[in-house]
Amino acid sequence: MKYTFDVAYLPCEALKKHDARIVVDLLRATTQITTFFDVGGEVLVPVTEVDEAFAMKAKLGDDWKIMGERGGLPAPGFDFGNSPLELKAAGAPQHAIITTSNGTRAIMRAVRDCAHVIAGCARNAEAAAWDALCAGPSVGVICAGRNGEFSLEDSVCAGMLVEKLLALAPSNGAGEMELTDGAFAALSLWQSLGPDVTAICRESTHGKILSGLGFDNDLFFCGEIDASSTVPVVKEISGVPAIVGR
Ligand code: MLT
Repeated sequence: MKYTFDVAYLPCEALKKHDARIVVDLLRATTQITTFFDVGGEVLVPVTEVDEAFAMKAKLGDDWKIMGERGGLPAPGFDFGNSPLELKAAGAPQHAIITTSNGTRAIMRAVRDCAHVIAGCARNAEAAAWDALCAGPSVGVICAGRNGEFSLEDSVCAGMLVEKLLALAPSNGAGEMELTDGAFAALSLWQSLGPDVTAICRESTHGKILSGLGFDNDLFFCGEIDASSTVPVVKEISGVPAIVGR
């Protein structure tokens, strides 16, 4: 079987067809989503806009909490922000709705034309790569980017994921593997800048903003590689795209 690995640097690119997509918003949405399941959460509904989050809560019920951020901080009325360390300390609610500036947008774009979408980050990189390989021979990594611009930390994490896909695919029947230009470039970025993901986060625009907001410790947490075996996967539950962990 021939596997093809692809990387898109922004969700608004003309995306190729993929059997599985790993969406990466390392700082911090996909790390937060992974942590949600690691600390006991069960279902997470991603939405794009703040208004939609409140409308979804009105539809789903009061036991649904709202989490996420705008400008790195929880918007007024949110129950939780987007800091995975804060979530770990507080413990996850059973059900939540999440909206973030870039990460949830990327997920909503990715699910539009792909049946198997995973939230990936450094913490669950190997687990996410393996899960994607099991879904089919064409795997795309979709970087969330930042406000429509290239994001260093997402792109380096994408390169790490490509390295893991290449290493794991032969155990899943790959006789041949091909990288698109995007995947080749991401792998080169990872090979030249890795493996200290936290150091890369600290160099990045968004990492500097988060440090300035007092979330420096999140950069260490988000930079840990393979600390989690959770794979958050988007499923449709009662007609609504929802993320469940496995
Ligand atoms: C995003 O979606 O842009 C991020 O997750 C933002 C953040 O956590 O600061």
